[in-house]
Amino acid sequence: MSTKKSAAKPVKRAATQPVTAKDNFKSMLIENRVFKPSAEFSKKARISSMAQYKRMHAESIKTPDKFWAREASELFWQKKWKKVLEWKAPFAKWFVGGSINVSENCVDRHLTNGRKNKAAIIWEGEPGDSRTLTYQQLHHEVCKFANVLKSHGVKPKDRVLIYMPMVPEAAIAMLACARIGATHSVVFGGFSSESIKDRLHDCQAKIVVTADGGYRRGSLVALKKNVDEALRDSASVERVIVLQRTKQEVTMQDGRDFWWHTECSKVSAACPAKGFDSEHPLYILYTSGSTGKPKGILHTAGGYLTGTYCTSKYVFDLRDDDIYWCTADIGWVTGHSYIVYGPLANGATVVMYEGAPNWPEPDRFWDIIARLRVTILYTAPTAIRAFIKWGDEWVKKHDLSSLRLLGSVGEPINPEAWMWYHKMIGGGRCPIVDTFWQTETGAIMISPLPGATPTKPGTATLPFFGIDAAILDEDGKEVGPDQGGKLVVRKPWPSMLRTIFGDTERYKSAYWGTYKGIYLAGDGARRDKDGNFWIVGRLDDVLNVSGHRLGTAEVESALVSHEAVAEAAVVGRPDEIKGQAVVAFVTVKEGYKTDAELIKALKAHVGKVIGAIAKPDDIRFTGALPKTRSGKIMRRLLKEVVSGGLVKGDTSTMEDLSVLAQLAASNGKDDE
Ligand code: WTA
Repeated sequence: MSTKKSAAKPVKRAATQPVTAKDNFKSMLIENRVFKPSAEFSKKARISSMAQYKRMHAESIKTPDKFWAREASELFWQKKWKKVLEWKAPFAKWFVGGSINVSENCVDRHLTNGRKNKAAIIWEGEPGDSRTLTYQQLHHEVCKFANVLKSHGVKPKDRVLIYMPMVPEAAIAMLACARIGATHSVVFGGFSSESIKDRLHDCQAKIVVTADGGYRRGSLVALKKNVDEALRDSASVERVIVLQRTKQEVTMQDGRDFWWHTECSKVSAACPAKGFDSEHPLYILYTSGSTGKPKGILHTAGGYLTGTYCTSKYVFDLRDDDIYWCTADIGWVTGHSYIVYGPLANGATVVMYEGAPNWPEPDRFWDIIARLRVTILYTAPTAIRAFIKWGDEWVKKHDLSSLRLLGSVGEPINPEAWMWYHKMIGGGRCPIVDTFWQTETGAIMISPLPGATPTKPGTATLPFFGIDAAILDEDGKEVGPDQGGKLVVRKPWPSMLRTIFGDTERYKSAYWGTYKGIYLAGDGARRDKDGNFWIVGRLDDVLNVSGHRLGTAEVESALVSHEAVAEAAVVGRPDEIKGQAVVAFVTVKEGYKTDAELIKALKAHVGKVIGAIAKPDDIRFTGALPKTRSGKIMRRLLKEVVSGGLVKGDTSTMEDLSVLAQLAASNGKDDE
């Protein structure tokens, strides 16, 4: 931990950070239960005591170049770097002058270190079919598909959009892009054709890789059809490669669409891995921000791989005989960093599952763990809360004794969910690593190290090596114990985002515009007297629905694009399972009836524009929205309304929220 006390220089308060940190900390939960790793776990762990963690963390902050160079050296570099870091805030270059192939590190490296016949991916489809790919087989598939991409004209830095179900080919496509230096952009398979279109347009993809469909809760998802719709007026896409997964009927456009298997049968399996500059773009992943369209977060090769490799190794304490299962979808950053790049760079055995956790019954996860003897499970609080709701009997039917470590990611985990996870899934013996990080950070930032850190339910505990995390007040001063503030990172780290694709100004203002030279995470947090970080949640207009980031502005734009809607404001409401539910306040245009039918139509419309995850749970019609004198919607007031504080609402009648606006105006408040 850093002891830096001097105040960071605050930049003019950013418009996207309207809520002061203090406002978010009315109630603070004090958690006194402490869980220390067992002596048995610690004895075998890489980091086995707090003394070791503290020593290494202090060293990594004092001499970060030394720490990161040591970690990066464990990877294979075709040419070694000349300089570890070049930092011209807010632009970082890591391992400058180094040349690396990410795919070679995740695959080829294990062909000569004794792992060639080890399972790299153990996959299970929702209908129950399964496949195992050894590192050697994975290598074969990746090389073939890399050659397919090349045969269709893909060159280094070309963008390839991947819209796939959770099948091994999704990982194969990513690794094939990395192998030939193409930049992939994976779009979550639950997003709609409109969302694909926006992303395609923003990154100007040359090729789309998709499948005919996928399985989800027993039904077929029409992936190819969504791509067809998205491509209707796309100028950049030249080819679509289609994996046959479900064999459902699809239309193939002559000259544009090609089957994955046919193309693979035409190419050789030899595709030597060429080195690329350490700062070569690896991928763009879109994520929600507080305003406007999703941001294309850009990650680059050498630093990102070093960060995900190193965090996977220490946080999951990966061993060669582990069977590691991260339940995230490959369309989110967790799938990128902790299904594909981090674990495979470590030569781990990764479990991948295609479908829903409650298909055919709510015990699918426990059944998989018992059958495959999974040792490490990394999942999300929203899933844990759903399991609790479905009942303990589903868990008790299965032998979960193979598990030795549990992880959580995506949102703060409620202490009660933590306790259930610990007792019911971990049998009281497995440490839990509650890992805080973001699409932007690329890798885990704050987390326990399982053999060292005493954990308390609800805290992500302490910063990872090399991470100089702190909590600052409005003036840029570090706050004292148990005081709320803004979570920041004061030093660059290898897996940090490099920019927002095509929008450097937004990169500068969104992350570095509040405190000069300091990364603003966008979350509120506090530290307890032991230094543990308690993440409270987003301070900007970003919702966290089932662990997924949604910008209120995105949902609002979707609503306003419906013919009946004049204006819309979206806020989050606490929800038992999803963490946050989406509540939309809507004013309609003259002549439209505010009835149940319109509610249904608006929900379906948002589903079509963004995807099912963004569908509002509640739609409330109002005659007017409360606004500041400068015309900004006062979302904070609306949040109080939905939490039951101010006005009771009925979804079928109009609410007169203009009264609230007048009230606030007369109080002289002019914040959002
Ligand atoms: C939240 C997901 C508390 C946080 C990897 C962050 C968390 C956002 C945790 C990033 C955690 C993620 N405890 N909050 N362990 N993990 N978050 O980009 O608000 O999808 O800013 O990355 O999720 O979401 P993203």
